[in-house]
Amino acid sequence: MDSHNMSTGKVAAIIGLGVGAMAVLHGDPLDPEGSAYLIWRETGLLGVPARAVVCIIAGVSLLAAGWLYRLLFCPLELLRAPDDVGYIAEGGRSRAQAANEVRRRRKTGELPPVYPNGWFRVLDSHLLERGEVRNVSVLGEQVAVFRGQDGEAYVVDAYCPHLGANLAVGGRVVGNCIECPFHGWQFRGNDGKCVKIPYAEKVPEFAKVHSWPSCEVNGQILIWFHCDGEDPHWTVPEQQEITSGEWVYRGRTEHFVNAHIQEIPENAADIAHLAHLHTPSFVSGVDLRYINSKTWEFLRHDWKVQWEPEPEPNQHCSQMLVKHAFTVFGLHWPLLDVHVVARQVGPGVVFLLFNHSFLGRGLIMHCVTPVEPLLQCVSHIMFYQSNVPPVVPKFILKAECIQFERDVMIWNNKKYISKPLLVKEDSAIQKHRRWFSQFYSENSPRLQYQRDTLDF
Ligand code: FES
Ligand SMILES: [Fe+2]
Repeated sequence: MDSHNMSTGKVAAIIGLGVGAMAVLHGDPLDPEGSAYLIWRETGLLGVPARAVVCIIAGVSLLAAGWLYRLLFCPLELLRAPDDVGYIAEGGRSRAQAANEVRRRRKTGELPPVYPNGWFRVLDSHLLERGEVRNVSVLGEQVAVFRGQDGEAYVVDAYCPHLGANLAVGGRVVGNCIECPFHGWQFRGNDGKCVKIPYAEKVPEFAKVHSWPSCEVNGQILIWFHCDGEDPHWTVPEQQEITSGEWVYRGRTEHFVNAHIQEIPENAADIAHLAHLHTPSFVSGVDLRYINSKTWEFLRHDWKVQWEPEPEPNQHCSQMLVKHAFTVFGLHWPLLDVHVVARQVGPGVVFLLFNHSFLGRGLIMHCVTPVEPLLQCVSHIMFYQSNVPPVVPKFILKAECIQFERDVMIWNNKKYISKPLLVKEDSAIQKHRRWFSQFYSENSPRLQYQRDTLDF
């Protein structure tokens, strides 16, 4: 449960207990004429145990009402910690210990470069108010993301070039600049140029912090990375329905995947894994040891998938067409057929477009951002037709999340194989690798062998 839900739950519990306590206090047994007393007498519920029962019922009903309200109306926010999903904690080990052991023992294989060129999501727009600054770990760097008084989001390297303070930890937004918390130097958001040194007569020309090309599209702040510092090669498409407000935010999930970035989009071209990993119904859960349980055997997902790169000038895009069917005891339920177009734009962003005659239309933005060479932050952000009850997109997002967590368990524990042993039916995987290689250039950073010290 996320912190928002927990706090709402706690508030409901406190209100419930408060109401219960008030009922007890108000029904003062020393005041036989009191109205509460009369009510108790009429209902025959006299005595402390009976009142306690009523209090508990009131509290539980309020909790249930709070839960129902959240379920029906609030966005789904499911944020998993790095060791939460995809590790087997056995033999008395905690999940964190299991995760660290897997990371330490991992055979990395012959890896492609670790940071491809492209756009990567750093933050949801709604998490950055005007004048706010946040520290984000991305592509092995620390960046400060802030929103200037002009409403624009800016991204600069977090470490101040003066003496290295972190601009995002105590730094202040002044106009469209960020002011360092240590000695008060101010850096412009759009080009990183230092515009003020409070105690110096002159600001040297070379006083500058690296500023990242960034954009804000579909409620997301993204940065452009190119190993040679080249300007963006393409733009992230805007989804018109989101800008116009026809589709609204219905929640997001966040996972950390312990794998090379390429493994994640490659899943789209790995057609055979769908029938194996994703056919057991979502109700059988995420733990690969139990997904084939007999209990839920009667529910199945069936998938038909096709993956193709797009031609020029959109060679940085590819499309996966998914036809999903749901069967119960072998009977097909056409009402639950879902057709999805998953359009990948560059190495870090995928638009999953849902179109359903009965459940409506919407989009999951699937974003993969490398945090460090073998740790990816994966977000799924759901936007859906505003006139469809939120519970529908939330259900879709949750079901998608369960299927995704099965992949996470594979990725977290696997090795990258540069020359995989493929059969003819796997041919799309090689095609995908060729397509993805366009995002690497000669100077793309490679993994320098080092022991992971960043334990979860
Ligand atoms: S370290 Fe930033 S102003 Fe000195
Ligand atoms: Fe998958």
